[in-house]
Amino acid sequence: MTLTYKQLLEIKDLTVDFDRFGGKARVLNRVNLAVAKGEKVGVVGETGCGKSVTMKAVMNLLPTRRVTVGGSIFYKGRDLLTLDRFARRQITGKEVVMIFQDPMTSLNPVFTIGQQMEDIIGYNLAGAKRGLRLPKRLRQEAREQAARFLAAVKLADPERILNSYPFQLSGGMRQRVLIALALANQPDLIIADEPGTALDVTTQAQILELMDQLVQERGIALLMITHNLGVVRETTDRVYVMYAGTVVETAATDALFAEPLHPYTKGLLDSVPKLHGQGLSAGIEGSVPDYLQMNPGCRFYPRCPQALPKCEFEPPEPRSISENHMVSCHLIG
Ligand SMILES: Nc1ncnc2c1ncn2[C@@H]1O[C@H](COP(=O)(O)OP(=O)(O)OP(=O)(O)O)[C@@H](O)[C@H]1O
Ligand SMILES: [Mg+2]
Repeated sequence: MTLTYKQLLEIKDLTVDFDRFGGKARVLNRVNLAVAKGEKVGVVGETGCGKSVTMKAVMNLLPTRRVTVGGSIFYKGRDLLTLDRFARRQITGKEVVMIFQDPMTSLNPVFTIGQQMEDIIGYNLAGAKRGLRLPKRLRQEAREQAARFLAAVKLADPERILNSYPFQLSGGMRQRVLIALALANQPDLIIADEPGTALDVTTQAQILELMDQLVQERGIALLMITHNLGVVRETTDRVYVMYAGTVVETAATDALFAEPLHPYTKGLLDSVPKLHGQGLSAGIEGSVPDYLQMNPGCRFYPRCPQALPKCEFEPPEPRSISENHMVSCHLIG
């Protein structure tokens, strides 16, 4: 079956509710987000605003109990939420792979890097089930490919790395191995959730630059969550700004930085230390409120410096400002 589709990934009206002590918390509230083939998209927003929950919903990594997921997640035109577990696993973890912030938890501690990479590559080569023993010729081919992927992520001495266990490598090396593993799947989309934040800033910058270069060369789409607005500005084509489980604004990266419209986006950009001027500017007071006590209107209302009376009770609808630029705010439109 061939489907026509405009976007590689298209999240439509995604809602996620967690049953908590004291009630149902609507953590994602109608999130819309799309990534085109080969596009680099950033997601920004304060801690707790639902970035990781969104990505986990795509990857089917949310807990199965006490969670309700609504809306649709189209990948190449098929709604992942309607597929059974087996069909979904053919896509997520293979065509769509995720790189986490802490490489130690994503690598299996009891297998060498070589064993873990050869498993993935062998599976691709043989089209066989993982864990099956490959014929010798394919095993050798898988090992050679694994070494090439390690070289691509600029790890010196791939042979030594292949024979190492995760604990024998430094944090930066492990993060590179994770990228190599992601590439070995030959994905169409890589989702990176704050890659390298467990590392020092210099190593993190190198990792992000490397990842940017590798996806560019291979035409892989990248959906990247990061707190580093400098990185977003330099590497992404488009940005989504999330606040308290909603997308408040999205635009081409240049347009968003040049003309942020939502008061939250403005505050977020203002909170970046400026090279000129005196240290940190004001930013935004307070933090993301408890999801069990969200304001019924605009979720940003309690913190918004420009709130109107209607913001308290009327949720703003997304409005198109220009092609690609969308904002949800009563002050605009
Ligand atoms: N399994 C879960 N059960 C209940 N609540 C959860 C669960 N996972 C996440 N949450 C809640 O969902 C909200 C959003 O969390 P999420 O991890 O998506 O934030 P984030 O934007 O990724 O933040 P950060 O920048 O700190 O990584 C938080 O209030 C969190 O407590
Ligand atoms: Mg997160």
